[in-house]
Amino acid sequence: MNYSESNGGLALFTKEFAKNPYPAYEKLRETDPVYPITLPDGQRGWMITTYEAAMEALKDQRMIKDFSKLFGDQMGHRSVFTENMLFSDPPDHKRLRGLVQKAFTPKMIAGMRGRIQEITDELLEKAAERPQMNLIDDFAFPLPIIVICEMLGVPSADRDKFRIWSNSLIEGSNGENAERIYEHMNEFTGYLGSWFAKTQENPGDDLISQLIQAEEKGDQLTERELYGVVSLLIIAGHETTVNLIGNGMLSLLQHPDQFEKLQSHPELIQSAIEELLRFEGPVEFSTSRWAGEDFEFKGQAMKRGDIVIVALNSANHDPLQFENPDLLDITREKSPHLAFGTGIHHCLGAPLARMEGEIAISSLMRRFPAMKLSIDPAELEWRPGMIVRGVKEIPVSLYPSR
Ligand code: HEM
Repeated sequence: MNYSESNGGLALFTKEFAKNPYPAYEKLRETDPVYPITLPDGQRGWMITTYEAAMEALKDQRMIKDFSKLFGDQMGHRSVFTENMLFSDPPDHKRLRGLVQKAFTPKMIAGMRGRIQEITDELLEKAAERPQMNLIDDFAFPLPIIVICEMLGVPSADRDKFRIWSNSLIEGSNGENAERIYEHMNEFTGYLGSWFAKTQENPGDDLISQLIQAEEKGDQLTERELYGVVSLLIIAGHETTVNLIGNGMLSLLQHPDQFEKLQSHPELIQSAIEELLRFEGPVEFSTSRWAGEDFEFKGQAMKRGDIVIVALNSANHDPLQFENPDLLDITREKSPHLAFGTGIHHCLGAPLARMEGEIAISSLMRRFPAMKLSIDPAELEWRPGMIVRGVKEIPVSLYPSR
């Protein structure tokens, strides 16, 4: 298919697609693995759906992340919130990632294990008082927020503000409610500015203090980069792990044989988490890449300025890579899924996300062994949007019915 036939016959980016994108992906993988699309705002681009093409695209440095190289600063494309490694190319990327990595160390993450278990237990203790819970609002959403806020050193009284600002940042990336979002962003940068100043004078052992102090060969993060990095960590901490826990539990509840297997073999939790990430990944599409020049990719002519989107959940259901890809099998061996991306932008928070997922899902299953979905899965409302895959609510009953 060539560019002029883009989106031909396939209703991408609709509610139906959000509900179940897999049939569309199957068709695209077979016929158009690099598929011409037009985004709702008219932007021309490509969607990549096979595992092989996804691996190549995620590593292809002709597809760039820093869109200011193409568009300059027009339409606020490059704001302080994108001044971080996710929106940078080499050599800036290496420098930014290296500085953040110095603060976000495996030791710091491993040191959070006990605290994550405590927060989990507190949330479940509260939920246990009622016969029903909404897995998202009552558990999957608050857990990663509390964790990232504690790591960063956000006072608990300010956590709700962070939730509002994080939502605005995400909505802003969808181009919605410009005025309100602008206001929230000003509040957010104001808050961060005074917080950075206080921390500089009086550093502690939290992540912000480490980020401010991180240094490589005399080089440090600038104030704008600190805004960019902190907002990225906050968004990543708010919007992704919630859906690992939510989608993961949903998949297990819809596959009682796998739920029971994990219950009787809790030692399978690590391979279960990998399979849940593959089966219904929390990040539907990679963040955008842009063709930095005209070139050919898998037989398609990409033009400078085209947007390139990698459908990670499609790659993770590619039968050429995964045997019986639509089967949920928590004992699946060797599962090189792309839920965390690959290449230089591979998720920096993957060890933290995996640890949170393991603790959350094992604890839920231990505490509420008779948990059941109390909604018809066809009624579940999948969140619209371009990047994250998750449902708004997952009502469950916690105890056996008498
Ligand atoms: C990058 C997924 C949790 C921090 C990414 C990318 C993916 C991803 C797919 C690459 C995007 C691309 O190449 O376009 C996930 C999933 C998560 C998760 C599925 C939860 C299950 C987290 C957490 C943090 C985090 C908890 C930190 C608090 C980052 C950062 C990057 C990133 C900093 C940018 C890395 C770079 O550009 O070098 N993540 N993420 N992520 N993630 Fe995550």
